[in-house]
Amino acid sequence: MIEEKNNGAFLEQTSAIEVPEQFLEQMKQYEELIMMYRCAIREVQTKLEILNDALSVKYKRNPINFIKSRIKSPGSIVKKLERRGLEVSIDSVEKNLNDVAGIRVVCHFIDDIYDVAEMLARQDDLKVVQIKDYIKNPKPNGYRSYHMIVEIPVFLPKKKKPMRVEVQIRTIAMDFWASLDHQVRYKKDIENTDEILEELRSCAEVIASTDDQMQRIRKKIEKITEERRNIEKITKHS
Ligand code: GTP
Ligand code: MG
Repeated sequence: MIEEKNNGAFLEQTSAIEVPEQFLEQMKQYEELIMMYRCAIREVQTKLEILNDALSVKYKRNPINFIKSRIKSPGSIVKKLERRGLEVSIDSVEKNLNDVAGIRVVCHFIDDIYDVAEMLARQDDLKVVQIKDYIKNPKPNGYRSYHMIVEIPVFLPKKKKPMRVEVQIRTIAMDFWASLDHQVRYKKDIENTDEILEELRSCAEVIASTDDQMQRIRKKIEKITEERRNIEKITKHS
């Protein structure tokens, strides 16, 4: 919201000076595109929050710990297009990039990830464009997460446009790992990077096995609670 206001102020200021018409037109197009991505994020995020609320009433616990979202910065957008040898233009952004709008969903347990993903995919106003399951197929460095590219229609006064959003779903432990891995990857001045990456890879294995174990413990607790409830029901009726 704040960014939008700043962009608006920038456009107002520039009208006082001599600015090429074409440049202003492109700025306006860019602003509109980002606004559309922001709306798409809101739509998908609301769906996820509603799922979390509905599940918490049904199961008396929240599958989602937190949701974060971001819009890719103009610098990262240009860098990615250039890296892929693609045209740097507004049309090219929309056509070629799937992750301008990004949502990260952090769940408690692995089962929660698949529940949330399945329930989101089942909604008929949303189209799943791509799935990458880095939990069943972890990256060689140990990275684990469930990635979905979804397309959601955004309705504006005069048009409806399908917008793509990247949804990354992971556990708290996977998120903890990924944030440290991200730091190592993007800090070029760290020494002994190979050794650190190897340490991180082995840490990813420990985390994966802890996630599995936590899931099993939760299931055990649920089973015990369920059995106790059934016994209570029987004794009440007899
Ligand atoms: P990008 O060009 O990086 O977007 O990759 P991609 O288009 O092939 O998609 P992929 O699904 O592999 O990765 C998308 C996003 O997932 C990245 O932008 C990161 O946010 C995250 N990600 C993927 N791999 C890693 C990893 O090894 N470590 C961390 N920390 N994050 C990763
Ligand atoms: Mg990306």
